[in-house]
Amino acid sequence: MPPILHYATLLSALGLSVVHAMDNGLAITPQMGWNTWNHFGCGISQDIVVDAAKALVANNLTQFGYEYVLMDDCWHADSRDPDTGAPRADPTKFPDGIKGVADQIHALGLKFGIYSDAGMYTCGGKFGSLGFEEIDAKTYAEWEIDYLKYDNCFNEGRSGTPKISFDRYANMSNALNATGRPILFSLCNWGEDGPWNFAPTIANSWRISGDIMDSFDRFDERCPCTSVIDCTYAGFHCAMTRIIDFAAPVLQKARKGAWNDLDIMEVGQGGMNFDEYVTHFTFWSMLKSPLILGMDLTNMSNETLSIITNDAVIALNQDDAGSPANRMWKRDVSDGGNLQLWQGSLVNNTFVIALLNTSPKEQTVEVDFYDAFFDQGKAYQQMSWQLSDLWQKDSQGKWGKNIGTFQGSMKVTIGTHQTKVWRAVPAPSNSTRREEL
Ligand SMILES: *[C@@H]1O[C@H](CO)[C@@H](O)[C@H](O)[C@H]1NC(C)=O
Ligand SMILES: *[C@@H]1O[C@H](CO)[C@@H](O)[C@H](O)[C@H]1NC(C)=O
Ligand SMILES: *[C@@H]1O[C@H](CO)[C@@H](O)[C@H](O)[C@H]1NC(C)=O
Ligand SMILES: *[C@@H]1O[C@H](CO)[C@@H](O)[C@H](O)[C@H]1NC(C)=O
Ligand SMILES: *[C@@H]1O[C@H](CO)[C@@H](O)[C@H](O)[C@H]1NC(C)=O
Ligand SMILES: *[C@@H]1O[C@H](CO)[C@@H](O)[C@H](O)[C@H]1NC(C)=O
Ligand SMILES: *[C@@H]1O[C@H](CO)[C@@H](O)[C@H](O)[C@H]1NC(C)=O
Repeated sequence: MPPILHYATLLSALGLSVVHAMDNGLAITPQMGWNTWNHFGCGISQDIVVDAAKALVANNLTQFGYEYVLMDDCWHADSRDPDTGAPRADPTKFPDGIKGVADQIHALGLKFGIYSDAGMYTCGGKFGSLGFEEIDAKTYAEWEIDYLKYDNCFNEGRSGTPKISFDRYANMSNALNATGRPILFSLCNWGEDGPWNFAPTIANSWRISGDIMDSFDRFDERCPCTSVIDCTYAGFHCAMTRIIDFAAPVLQKARKGAWNDLDIMEVGQGGMNFDEYVTHFTFWSMLKSPLILGMDLTNMSNETLSIITNDAVIALNQDDAGSPANRMWKRDVSDGGNLQLWQGSLVNNTFVIALLNTSPKEQTVEVDFYDAFFDQGKAYQQMSWQLSDLWQKDSQGKWGKNIGTFQGSMKVTIGTHQTKVWRAVPAPSNSTRREEL
């Protein structure tokens, strides 16, 4: 039986060229940056945006790949320019105008993003872009914007089939393209009408669910669906582990240049503990979500900084294979919650294996390599693997500590709400067998 591979890995193994989905040359690996919404909501200003950009640089986050500073909803004036219909910024909150802010962000070596909505109004009640796509895209390009997050409130019922949603978002995608300026297009329709099917050719990423909430697993009626397949009301207030469940069936729809967006991260916001945020960051990385920070960058704890600068985990996200991990099994445990085994392909015949414990107690698990390497087949299941724990540091203080060589299975003890994640490399005795691929 041939190994079951992500389509991109398969095409390159066959020597076929891999067509990037969204063809604007951006987000070849998932985009990384920071967004105003989770921490500041509608209370934004020029100072907040520029101070965040400075803090991004001061904390050396650019060295880890974070490059976009994203201004979310509520930058707007009360109305468009009455003469031209062009969008305008709130002159009190943004005295230098959006172009002036863009210049300051660019001077720091960063890229700048704006927000609008494929509806009559934005979610915060400002003017939307529906019917104004061309003038808005043109104005963003004049302001030297690099990224557009495009929301879904007040859409006047223009959803309900993939084609209706596609047309509404493709309009802005085309308008951005027509400006000639490469602008990353971040589609946000909360998973309505299955954007993983219709968005890859028009957007660099698409949200799959209602908005995240800063909680590990709290159930909330406002996020009512149990799956994103056939969900008719995405809602919001979706706990972090629910979004992992939502993502599991649609992950393989990602392409280079076109990613599933699990939403802005809550790491450092205070609603979860250290282990829970480690789980959050690991999964967003491994599942190839855009890595968009959402905490106050000007007031970060060292603990938060250590999570978001784990370069071994970020490397999972930015790996050239562009292949999201898959859930190999999910098992309910008697204490409540569940255990989950995940595995994904990385470049150069290496793999990521992760174990998640959502139960309230420590668990001991025998991870069988038959399950971990189910997609790759028997030869891989029987090989010995050298594993590095990506949340432990080695003697040089670099993330990723060699924990030894394993064959057949390994026994793992894992605390409540923890994730253990390993990079698996064929052990020397087996490394001559790469042609098996
Ligand atoms: C950022 O890098 C500089 C130079 O390498 C270093 O001096 C400084 O301590 C770093 N800052 C942080 C917050 O890590
Ligand atoms: C986009 O929408 C505008 C306003 O409704 C319309 O004039 C234009 O033809 C649409 N463009 C495309 C390519 O559908
Ligand atoms: C516009 O789309 C074309 C065709 O898909 C692509 O080659 C080009 O790079 C795009 N340009 C911009 C600025 O996005
Ligand atoms: C900074 O963070 C600390 C701890 O989370 C908090 O108590 C404090 O209010 C924050 N300061 C500002 C200025 O936001
Ligand atoms: C972070 O750690 C450094 C020393 O490693 C210390 O000087 C600094 O005050 C700490 N920052 C916070 C926010 O705890
Ligand atoms: C993969 O292998 C190539 C060729 O040996 C090497 O140049 C590259 O650095 C490797 N990539 C990683 C992530 O190890
Ligand atoms: C890998 O090495 C082990 C011994 O360490 C051996 O039993 C197994 O057959 C080898 N598998 C392959 C695919 O070479």
